[in-house]
Order: sequence, then structure tokens, then C-alpha cells
Amino acid sequence: MSNSNPNPNRSILHLGHPTLRKTAPIVPDPQTPQIQTLIDDLLTTLRSANGVGIAAPQVDESLQVMVIASRPTPRYPNAPTMEPIALINPRILDKSADLEKGWEGCLSIPEYRGFVPRHRSITVEYTDRHGTLQQTVFTDFVARIFQHEYDHFLGLVFLDRLESESDRVTAEQFKLMFPDTSNPDLRGLSGVEAQTQ
Ligand code: NI
Repeated sequence: MSNSNPNPNRSILHLGHPTLRKTAPIVPDPQTPQIQTLIDDLLTTLRSANGVGIAAPQVDESLQVMVIASRPTPRYPNAPTMEPIALINPRILDKSADLEKGWEGCLSIPEYRGFVPRHRSITVEYTDRHGTLQQTVFTDFVARIFQHEYDHFLGLVFLDRLESESDRVTAEQFKLMFPDTSNPDLRGLSGVEAQTQ
């Protein structure tokens, strides 16, 4: 297998593609060149789409691989900065009872934003890209990203998690609702897979 990858920037599937509705199987061996390339491609694709999280099914790879890469963007200045991490075969060990609603988008559903309830903190075990088992607690915005991406492994999208139809707005309407990025109501929570345009 060649080390060079001619097309690291993968195209992102949109809602309606059957892969987005499939349950993603676990990765038997995270250290194969194919999985390592997939992780590199997810990182590249996420960066170029200006997102903060992406799951492998979104690039038509039905596998339990996700990348989380929270960072501030011009529109979401309060998002915490972290080194991008790849999570393979994550398992939820525990989650807080308290739910918090926040705005989300999805690179696979660019037309809409939703006000989605998520657990405020979540304890996760996963395999990293070096094959090492890790355990960590995600909170707030990063916990939201994780739960959003994990849903992609279950064939779910954020629209399925809405409590009410009125919690779904068009991306255009969302911009009218929150023209000022410093609006405290956003609290940096609306940047999940958000695109700058
Ligand atoms: Ni998504």
C-alpha cells in the first residue's frame, strides 16, 4: 500500500444517503493502514469543512471511528480548544442525569440547526489511533460533540433527538436569530460541525 493518499479530503454524505442510517460495526484492528488513513482523512475533511467533529459514516465508511476537534471559530468564539482526537470503538460507561439543550448543526444536514438536549457529562472508554485503551470524561461542549458523533454510529442524527419540531430551524433563520456571535445565549455550544457559511 502506498503512503501517499491522493484524496484525503473526502466528500461528506448528506441526509438521505443510506449509510447515515446504518448501525456502524466496531473496528477489529485500529492499527491497519486503512484505518490510519481513514483517521487522517477525517482530520483533513473536518478541518476543511470548518467542523468540530465528524464520524466515519459521514464519509461513507460504516465503522466506529470519530474525530473530535473543538476549537474557537469566528462564529463560535467560546468553543474550547483541544488537540484533535480520534476515538475508535467508543463505549459509554456513564452519563450525567442532567441534560442541557444547545444548538447543533451537522455537516450532513447543512440546511438545519437544532436545539438538542444532551447529557452534560459523559464517561467514555475508547481505543486511540495507537491502539491504546483510554478512559475519559467529556463535559459541556465536548460532551455534546461526542454524543452527536456517537449517534452517527447508531444511524441517528440530531434531528431525531429534538424534543419538539419548534426546536428545528433553518440555517438561514438561525443566522437571523443569532446575528451577534457574542450572544451569551449561544455560550459557544452551537458549533457542532458548524460551517462558517
Ligand atoms: Ni453530524
